[in-house]
Amino acid sequence: MTDSILTLTLGVVVSHVTSWPCNVAVGEGRGLLAQRYGRYVAGSAGHRDRTPPDLAATLVDRYSRPGDLVADPFVGTATMLVEAVHAGRDGLGLDIEPGWVSLARTNLALAARQGATGRARVIHADATRLPTRVPTALRGTVDLVLTTAPTGTTMPATRRGRHYTGGLRISRITAGAGLGRVLAGCATLLRPGGLAAGALRREPTHRWTLTREPVYVVPAGLRAGLKVVDYLFANERGQLLTRYPGDQLTVAPRAITGAVLMLPGVAAHDVVVFGKPDRTVGLS
Ligand SMILES: C[S@@+](CC[C@H](N)C(=O)[O-])C[C@H]1O[C@@H](n2cnc3c(N)ncnc32)[C@H](O)[C@@H]1O
Repeated sequence: MTDSILTLTLGVVVSHVTSWPCNVAVGEGRGLLAQRYGRYVAGSAGHRDRTPPDLAATLVDRYSRPGDLVADPFVGTATMLVEAVHAGRDGLGLDIEPGWVSLARTNLALAARQGATGRARVIHADATRLPTRVPTALRGTVDLVLTTAPTGTTMPATRRGRHYTGGLRISRITAGAGLGRVLAGCATLLRPGGLAAGALRREPTHRWTLTREPVYVVPAGLRAGLKVVDYLFANERGQLLTRYPGDQLTVAPRAITGAVLMLPGVAAHDVVVFGKPDRTVGLS
């Protein structure tokens, strides 16, 4: 965690905006191709909703320490975990699609060959059923959940029983219900005092308002007993945006009322960060 980034990014917010002059990215930023080149296998490009690796790396750096365990319940191509293992964290990933599980493992094997010191495992599982399929020894030990939720108003989830091929039987549930279950499951994985950061990609046509995922995610996190500890924005390249000093956008209810507007076309990602209260602190 670096204080310099913290200071820079906590400095700024855009609020009640009609026109706001200072909504700028922190740092210069690299193109998405440059961020992935040589670090991810070619098949990764087939995943439509990949997270910018520089955003993943920034969040790993900001919210965890070397040696920590980082979990991603929606692992996809494993962007979060690849950046985590390169930064010396260990990883645990889940995905409901066997194809992405296999690709995630391939990307993590590449990271290991390139000298990443962290270790990661990826499980084929439904995150709405967490902590099912996560080894008991790991429950309550995760330092940081770092993830990108699927976009859309519904998401895949398993039905009871197995498919006749032996695989999972998959249907769809509303995003609100699904993300609620996933966050409740993540809360059981986190250690007391652990953090859960969700980078939520905005639909390009809805960039100027807070819609969809943030609206589901914040109340679901609060219901799971988590507290909002930070709320950030990033651009298309995954660079965090500076914020206007004095605004209270880290106060979640205000952020989700829709009263807070970003300049059109600027914010591509919302980042909601929850903390799991540490009830042991202060007890003797
Ligand atoms: C937004 S993508 C994650 C992208 C990832 N951060 C990356 O950079 O590749 C969401 C992923 O969640 C997976 N997913 C959707 N529903 C799921 C569920 N119920 N359980 C586990 N994984 C799920 C999808 O298969 C998809 O790979």
